[in-house]
Amino acid sequence: MRVLLTGGSGFIGSHIALLLLEKGYDVLILDSFVNSSSKAINAIKAYLENKNLNYDLQTISGDIRDKKLLDKIFIDAAKKSNPIQAVLHLAGLKSVSDSLVNPLHYWDVNVCGTQNLLATMNENECYSIVFSSSATIYGLTDSVPISEDHKISPINPYGKTKVAIENMFYDLYRSNMKSWKICSLRYFNPVGAHPSGLIGEDPIGIPNNLFPYITQVAIGRRKFLNVFGDDWDTIDGSGVRDYIHIMDLSEGHINAIDYLCSKKSCFEIINLGSGKGYSVFQIISQFEQSTGSQIPFSIQCRRDGDVARCYADISKAKKFLGWTPKRSLEQICLDGWKWQRKNPNGYS
Ligand SMILES: NC(=O)c1ccc[n+]([C@@H]2O[C@H](COP(=O)([O-])OP(=O)(O)OC[C@H]3O[C@@H](n4cnc5c(N)ncnc54)[C@H](O)[C@@H]3O)[C@@H](O)[C@H]2O)c1
Repeated sequence: MRVLLTGGSGFIGSHIALLLLEKGYDVLILDSFVNSSSKAINAIKAYLENKNLNYDLQTISGDIRDKKLLDKIFIDAAKKSNPIQAVLHLAGLKSVSDSLVNPLHYWDVNVCGTQNLLATMNENECYSIVFSSSATIYGLTDSVPISEDHKISPINPYGKTKVAIENMFYDLYRSNMKSWKICSLRYFNPVGAHPSGLIGEDPIGIPNNLFPYITQVAIGRRKFLNVFGDDWDTIDGSGVRDYIHIMDLSEGHINAIDYLCSKKSCFEIINLGSGKGYSVFQIISQFEQSTGSQIPFSIQCRRDGDVARCYADISKAKKFLGWTPKRSLEQICLDGWKWQRKNPNGYS
């Protein structure tokens, strides 16, 4: 089965690509490389070749807003008698702070790009899509665990684009309920790396997220970690979040495709998280214990837009996708550290 994976060179996309190829899917990656390196694709190929696995991977450098290119991708695949049967749509911009400065760019890439993709799928009668949504759309809530029917209340343009896309999916589904199969996955915090240490998270500039920041402190690229608030109403005063191993998250996508294949039509929104909350201090302590590294930190004021705790109710993923996360926090630390140690400067 051939799938189109948009954003397949990015952090999450590269891990999903590897898993799809290992499972025998033919994968066509479309990525503009605006926030990723083609070295991630080379690493995937090297891993598969080392394992003597036959695979069918095609990479196209391009933008999801380029309608002519999308048309060509679908038409060429059909001509080769290997049409695209499903799309995993990860391409997009994801920085909350950048979205506050450049909102129109976020609406253009994320929303217009997705509309473009859906129009092309519709024209080519490809009706199955798995989408990368985000827990950020739940906004400032402290009522945990967060289930999918929790109020939607995004507080930044990035989150609003994800809500707009989910609304677009719903309208499209309602317009042709016999055909569309749509699964929007709301990720919590994907972290860690492939256990080989060959692919992992390589943020450009200062990491926005806790885990890559910790590994960069551990490798000596940053002096200390900033901890934003130690006076939250949590177990130790630091913020509590849901961290999910990137391989667990990737496996969730395979289950989501299987789920779509088993249905005549559907529209489902499903949380993907670990279902557990860990505080920043617990993460530091586990990382130090698992890796033997020291993580110096400095307490800073709370940031606007933060909450005390946020973690997922993952019962719907278990029920609908037959999926449960398997990897521990220790495994997250070990795999993330392995990637950073093998690649102190990421892909560069
Ligand atoms: N990483 C997270 O914590 C997180 C959490 C929730 C949701 N998500 C969503 O998951 C998806 C993947 O996230 P990621 O962490 O792998 O990010 P990433 O930036 O590493 O990957 C996104 C990929 O999309 C590509 N891209 C961006 N704009 C494009 C365009 N116009 N056309 C084609 N390709 C384009 C980038 O080059 C990059 O390779 C994103 O949609 C993101 O919003 C991520």
